[in-house]
Amino acid sequence: MGLGEPLRTVGGEWLRPAEPSQAAALYAAVDASREALAPWLPWCTARYTPASAEAFLAEATLEHRTLIFSSHDSTAVLGAVSLMPVDRYDEVWKLGYWVRADVQRRGLARRAAATLCQAAFAASAVQRVSILVAVGNAPSRRVAQALGAQQEGVLKSRLLLPSGRHDAAIYGLMPEALAEDLRP
Ligand SMILES: CC(C)(COP(=O)(O)OP(=O)(O)OC[C@H]1O[C@@H](n2cnc3c(N)ncnc32)[C@H](O)[C@@H]1OP(=O)(O)O)[C@@H](O)C(=O)NCCC(=O)NCCS
Repeated sequence: MGLGEPLRTVGGEWLRPAEPSQAAALYAAVDASREALAPWLPWCTARYTPASAEAFLAEATLEHRTLIFSSHDSTAVLGAVSLMPVDRYDEVWKLGYWVRADVQRRGLARRAAATLCQAAFAASAVQRVSILVAVGNAPSRRVAQALGAQQEGVLKSRLLLPSGRHDAAIYGLMPEALAEDLRP
């Protein structure tokens, strides 16, 4: 399985590349999770509409954006995991993830993130993944740790969130450190 193709996690969920036909399902997942996502994801505001989901999926991008589904043919979105280039010369990418409110705390984020990172490492497209997390975002920090990422420091006032500016923990994940039990 390579980047750009559907990927199966160790838990049996599937990651499929984000595409315009998924807009309604993406909007439904975000809309059902607004309270849980809004403190940490600046794009999840009261102004997030079906058109926002359509625009996001129509955007041409270098990112590896995937949506999470419970099975290969399921159409209900469980969350998303993406890799965004931050430094293409040095092949450093940034990982992002969110999970629908009603299916959080089941290990979904770590399985999905590990699956995408593993595919990116295997394709030799990515040599190092950074994860930037507000210091108060305990669930996301747990996900970074579970993946095998190491905290490398705290960046002062690095993130602008709805509640204001926040310090952010920066994690680094190298191919060899990716948690064995999460590798597909
Ligand atoms: C962060 C997020 C993606 C995690 O998704 P998930 O599928 O629930 O993640 P996992 O089940 O793999 O792991 C969650 C971990 O957080 C822990 N956790 C959950 N809620 C918690 C809380 N309120 N306080 C402390 N820990 C918490 C869980 O116990 C688990 O850790 P454990 O392995 O030590 O038990 C999800 O909470 C989310 O979508 N948050 C909003 C968006 C966001 O913050 N994205 C990341 C931005 S950097």
